[in-house]
Amino acid sequence: MTRKSYEELRSYRWYGVDDLRSFGHRSRAKQMGYAREDWAGKPVIAIINTWSDINPCHTHFRDRAEEVKRGVWQAGGFPVEMPAISLSEPFQKPTTMMYRNLLALETEELLRSYPCDGAVLLGGCDKTTPALFMGAASMNIPALFVPAGPMLRGNWRGKTLGSGSDTWKYWAELRAGNITEDDWEEIEDGIARTPGTCMTMGTAATMMCAAEALGLTLADAGSIPAADSNHARMATRCGRRIVDMVWEDVKPSDVFTEKSFENAITTVMAMGGSTNAVVHLVAMAGRLGVELDLERFDEISKRTPFLANIRPSGKYLMEDFFYAGGLAGLLNEMKDILHLDCMTVNGKTLGENIEGKDIYNEDVIRRRNNALSAEGGLAVLRGNLAPGGAIIKHIAADPSLHTHTGPAVVFKDYNDMAARIDDPDLPVTKDSVLVLQNAGPQGGPGMPEWGMLPIPKKLLEQGVRDMVRISDARMSGTSYGTCVLHVAPESFVGGPLAHVHDGDMIALDIPGRTLKLLVDDAELAARSAVWVAPEAKFARGFGAIYAAHITQANKGCDFDVLEGTAPTPEPEIH
Ligand code: FES
Repeated sequence: MTRKSYEELRSYRWYGVDDLRSFGHRSRAKQMGYAREDWAGKPVIAIINTWSDINPCHTHFRDRAEEVKRGVWQAGGFPVEMPAISLSEPFQKPTTMMYRNLLALETEELLRSYPCDGAVLLGGCDKTTPALFMGAASMNIPALFVPAGPMLRGNWRGKTLGSGSDTWKYWAELRAGNITEDDWEEIEDGIARTPGTCMTMGTAATMMCAAEALGLTLADAGSIPAADSNHARMATRCGRRIVDMVWEDVKPSDVFTEKSFENAITTVMAMGGSTNAVVHLVAMAGRLGVELDLERFDEISKRTPFLANIRPSGKYLMEDFFYAGGLAGLLNEMKDILHLDCMTVNGKTLGENIEGKDIYNEDVIRRRNNALSAEGGLAVLRGNLAPGGAIIKHIAADPSLHTHTGPAVVFKDYNDMAARIDDPDLPVTKDSVLVLQNAGPQGGPGMPEWGMLPIPKKLLEQGVRDMVRISDARMSGTSYGTCVLHVAPESFVGGPLAHVHDGDMIALDIPGRTLKLLVDDAELAARSAVWVAPEAKFARGFGAIYAAHITQANKGCDFDVLEGTAPTPEPEIH
């Protein structure tokens, strides 16, 4: 393997040459207390840190950044920590999805505009994983990922609590008068008790495991609990490894291929992962010029067994998954449907990384012959209501609704839905199809996780627990129900969803993979001709940039100007 010389490093142009500008760079580095021997002859490693005081999932990242630095120093690199926007799922409004591309852009431009030779990416809370990958892939310098890792199990009076799902469960119990306000506050104390991401199979766990399967992390890194000392040691190993990756010049374009993305999709299906993974993986692949159409997800779903028994579709939590063998144990169980020759950032193939790994609890990670379901959790639907496609997590849907035709009850936006959903006069029955408009990439904005529309109260009282719901929104990985999501094109830009009227019949056929509005073409054309586009949401600022460039869900909701692999000039050093 050829190794780069010091003179070939990007950072050499800042620190190594002998001119007036490099004098400035060196003297300013010395101002920070560094000496020439700290950087001379060494690669500069950026540690992109998404820590912030408002991101509970990343509270350990100040420590982890120090542990990465330790590894970088050990291996003969020069670590430079760079903070980047922290997308904090619980706190950021209207949704972190609106800011995923901003973190991607910031990551790319930090790496481009500063003297970085390689990057260690610290993320994990939902959108941070795809965003950091997208930025590093577009910059295309050596990079690897330290996944934040899940938090430990929640606990309340000896009962295990899981992020998201138990919040809803006990909220319902509180409203029903089965638990007290004091009980509720004790649950608040116990449901999130350590650093780390949600420990159910939400977007964070889904994307961290997808990152491992993609080859973006060190082997076995995707599910280590944040509070486990293995996590700190993994961070230090990442620091050591990235220095070698720079000398070996292992770039994202060398590691991540169409096949790697297929491995990531297979992993998402076997994990019963979040529907959000579809949007993210499409966007991530797009940064490397790999086109993933929705049908690829459907095909892979059909051939992948669902093996990870993790809430909300299963029984356990990510801590249990790690002890049961973690992702390597799961992947080793389905080697025949993976591309084992794909490279990973540790310099080995996926096949080498999972060789000999085993499952230590066969209820948490199922064997193939005892799979939770013979196929993965997602289905892609098409039809005149979703010409660009829509998705459904059908393993979380009532089987009696997999084929269903019913009349639409239409809400023009979230506020309309919130105002009317529990109205006793709402003309809704268990056979109705609830339709939420204007909740997509532009309409939400940011496709908020509103896709699990609430069941109207009067139907709840009749014992109805699931019904067909359709929107251009997303849904939390911890949600469930017969919810058709990501309808493209969205209603805000005049997609067919905008033209659904109350009472129109809608036919859902999951086995046939179709979603049809049973209104004839002439009538739909007439409705489209008189449709008035909603007013633009933003006149200035990031919102205006977002609205001008965001793509639809089936294209990954990337900014059109950030897609692709067209070269971007290196900065001149003046
Ligand atoms: Fe950060 Fe769920 S809130 S991962």
